Amino acid sequence: ELSPIDKAKFVAAKRAVDYVEDGMRVGLGTGSTAAWMVRCLGELVRDDGLRIRGVPTSTRTAELARQVGIDVISLDEAKWLDLTIDGADEFDENLNLIKGGGGALLQEKIVATASDRMIVITDAAKEVAQLGSFALPVEVIPFGWQTTKALLEETLINLDVLGRETSLRMNGDAPFVTDEGNFILDLHLIRIGNVRQLALVLNQIPGVVENGLFIDICDIVVIGHGDGRVELRD
Ligand code: A5P
Repeated sequence: ELSPIDKAKFVAAKRAVDYVEDGMRVGLGTGSTAAWMVRCLGELVRDDGLRIRGVPTSTRTAELARQVGIDVISLDEAKWLDLTIDGADEFDENLNLIKGGGGALLQEKIVATASDRMIVITDAAKEVAQLGSFALPVEVIPFGWQTTKALLEETLINLDVLGRETSLRMNGDAPFVTDEGNFILDLHLIRIGNVRQLALVLNQIPGVVENGLFIDICDIVVIGHGDGRVELRD
């Protein structure tokens, strides 16, 4: 028997795979919700003979996808994707997102942007009126990261955000390292006034590779509830 939170994630994942059709190239997201989706797809491949090729957004997802029997290819092999299904850390009424709680934002953003359609699967707790309660992940190159952090903090002074604290994401005693060999700075902004401006400005800072704001990328949010209900936003 699943806990209410796992049930919510599972029913959202189950509903989202209805959008996957035979022959599609599918972007496979990262995180605990996306893992349910990968397992659902694996079942369809095994039991219903669904033929798809999957492009994973992390080494973790690649491993799981192979385990459940999905044909895994690289984004360069796929060139373009029909659909990406991924989780998120926050979403608002415009279907803008914060992602990267799991540290896979860079590959996730590249893959989602290369897809005709992006579907986010989530539980209801991640819906917010304004993005920013969840710390915004920013992927930075290790070289000179402290200088990049200082520059970032200085940049935030002129922007429409409430909090300005930034912290290096850790993995025990060492910095957390992404699949691309970079570090993550988590920005504790509390509330982001202008998401579009922030997303643009952050990526102008030397040393910043990408930020976790997904603006105008997501097309549909599938919200699962602990009692098994599913809601759609588009
Ligand atoms: C991974 O980098 C993130 O963008 C995930 O999509 C996000 O953290 C959601 O993860 P959960 O589904 O585990 O909450």
